[in-house]
Amino acid sequence: MQQEIVFSKYYGQGNTEGLDYYKKNDQGYTALPRSLEMGAEKVLAEVKESGLRGRGGAGFPCGTKWGFIPKNSEKPKYLVINADESEPGTFKDRAIMAYQPHLMIEGAIIAAMTINAHMIYVYIRGEYVKEAGILDRAIEEAYKAGYLGNNVAGTGYKLDMVVHRGAGAYICGEETALLNSLEGKRGEPRIKPPFFPAAIGLFGCPTVVNNVETLACVPMIVNRGAAWFKQFGPEKNYGMKLFCISGHVNRPGLYERPLGYPMMKLINEDCGGIWKGRKLKAAFPGGSSAPVLTAEQCEVNLDFDSLAKAGSMLGSAGIMVIDDATCMLKVAIRTAHFYQVESCGQCTPCREGTMWLKDLHVRLERGDGKVGDLDLIEDICNNMDGTTICAFGEATAWPLRSMVKKFRTEYEQHVTEKRCPFGTAAH
Ligand SMILES: Cc1cc2nc3c(=O)[nH]c(=O)nc-3n(C[C@H](O)[C@H](O)[C@H](O)COP(=O)(O)O)c2cc1C
Repeated sequence: MQQEIVFSKYYGQGNTEGLDYYKKNDQGYTALPRSLEMGAEKVLAEVKESGLRGRGGAGFPCGTKWGFIPKNSEKPKYLVINADESEPGTFKDRAIMAYQPHLMIEGAIIAAMTINAHMIYVYIRGEYVKEAGILDRAIEEAYKAGYLGNNVAGTGYKLDMVVHRGAGAYICGEETALLNSLEGKRGEPRIKPPFFPAAIGLFGCPTVVNNVETLACVPMIVNRGAAWFKQFGPEKNYGMKLFCISGHVNRPGLYERPLGYPMMKLINEDCGGIWKGRKLKAAFPGGSSAPVLTAEQCEVNLDFDSLAKAGSMLGSAGIMVIDDATCMLKVAIRTAHFYQVESCGQCTPCREGTMWLKDLHVRLERGDGKVGDLDLIEDICNNMDGTTICAFGEATAWPLRSMVKKFRTEYEQHVTEKRCPFGTAAH
């Protein structure tokens, strides 16, 4: 399996975030002049050819998205970088911003010039205080070096970039809630269609929203070409990828591997297996919004299409591993509680459903549940799936429904024994 460490070679080391370091170690700002030589159309064609799929969750082809921006619109165009990274178990964008912010900035400059945008916003979650500071300083360096400002790389092109800090709401990672928040409104998702903000986005203008990691791939694609990028990963799932692993493994952390890397190899070899000599029980491969996989289902490759085929999703590549000493109902309570607290409350099925789901799981786990509660959980999930303005409804329904379906016997045991068979450890 072809692989090359392109992101994480100096993660964890100090003082790597400066412009000098980037230029010396990462061919820093050599892709920008190359993209100018190529021109916007060729850059767009190269990104399309690379097959780069969005790293924010949905895996939508990046070049296709850029191509949606209307060329003949008189309105200003915007590039918005989604640095909200609120999905549980996800911490990859944070590393890019902390250790190589200029990689993302250079990718964003190339993207902005390709779609003819003159303004870039970085929407970063409020909790990323350190990373917001690093980005501010890196952007200042880029202005001073002439990569941003009134005369980008001597071309006369005007391009500005600012960091906007969110207030810590999960929903503001959903791109239309993010745009509302950026406009100073409540962070509530917008009604679809339009399904993309390409025509009507920020301030009603054509907008591309891209994830941090997606944009960090762009300088490499411009410099080394689509063919190089396509060496990594199976068909239609190309590139090196940052995987975040948390939970019950011996060596949790951030691992850079090609898309299509076997999940069990990552867990057993790279992460040193399950901790405390226990066995693997289940895993969420793409943050808590992804349907859970049983231990047997974890024999799968980590890419968009393989995981979709296995009934789950790559999502944000936040892999959360669960050992066999863990009560799945406790996991479900944690999950349901998170979504209850984070629901923006706009849609009734989500606002009410998340609350009922949390209450039902708590009741079941403490031994006060009824057998009918299991069907009720599924019923509530079915009524949330596809009935809300944004995909938050599915992000709640999919994991919770998958847990009750795949671990039904364990749920039933709580009802028949009128207690948690795993004991009363805090959840
Ligand atoms: C509830 C919800 C939360 C999301 N949170 C994030 C997030 O924190 N970061 C992110 O990049 N995308 C997030 N997304 C996906 C974005 O809406 C959007 O698809 C993504 O930023 C597009 O970038 P990409 O095409 O480069 O992946 C979220 C989606 C939903 C429905």
